[in-house]
Amino acid sequence: MDNFKPVSDSATVIAELMIPSYSNFGGKIHGGHILSLMDKTAYVCAVKHAGAYCVTASIETVDFLAPAEVGELVTLYASVNYVGKSSIVVGIRVMAENFKTQVVKHTNTSYFTMVAMDEDHKPTPVPGLLLTNHNEVRRFYEALHKKELKKYYRNEEVRIKSEVEQKEMMEVIKNERCLVQLAE
Ligand SMILES: CC(C)(COP(=O)(O)OP(=O)(O)OC[C@H]1O[C@@H](n2cnc3c(N)ncnc32)[C@H](O)[C@@H]1OP(=O)(O)O)[C@@H](O)C(=O)NCCC(=O)NCCS
Repeated sequence: MDNFKPVSDSATVIAELMIPSYSNFGGKIHGGHILSLMDKTAYVCAVKHAGAYCVTASIETVDFLAPAEVGELVTLYASVNYVGKSSIVVGIRVMAENFKTQVVKHTNTSYFTMVAMDEDHKPTPVPGLLLTNHNEVRRFYEALHKKELKKYYRNEEVRIKSEVEQKEMMEVIKNERCLVQLAE
């Protein structure tokens, strides 16, 4: 059990008040600011688990479900969902609380893959994950499943680039909103 750490050991909560300088022309908080907060939170969570410096390797699609507004408190809840050899998948849920209306809304959720690095800036092994409830088992399983799907799609991309002929591409895109005007 020495080399396994429970999810609770690295669970991280970071909160920040949204001030006017974070807003865009529409008065809402910049998506980029929220992404930056998510990256910082993922870093803290991953480093707590790894006990080593970590880098962000990839970020799963981030859908913005609702905007955060100036004056709201944005709170990010992060926990380790999965670990490989040197990689750590951190799940992050972002909530925004409006003190005036007392409404708390879910603004986004995403998954960051972080990789632990040694002193020579090479990936280094991380402790395993001790799963202590059914939700943690489900999240671990889902992350593993997504990792396999990503591998499948990456192979498909390679196949498309190397195998799909121009004629086949034309056939597939012919009813899409594009106009093909080849110069030669
Ligand atoms: C991420 C990085 C360390 C991977 O290095 P690498 O030489 O490809 O290392 P490996 O192939 O041995 O992969 C190491 C681990 O990272 C994972 N990994 C690498 N690229 C990944 C990606 N794009 N998405 C998810 N996981 C990835 C591998 O699956 C492997 O996981 P495992 O050890 O749990 O099996 C390297 O690409 C890098 O340093 N990228 C730049 C990171 C950065 O600058 N981030 C922004 C600022 S922090």
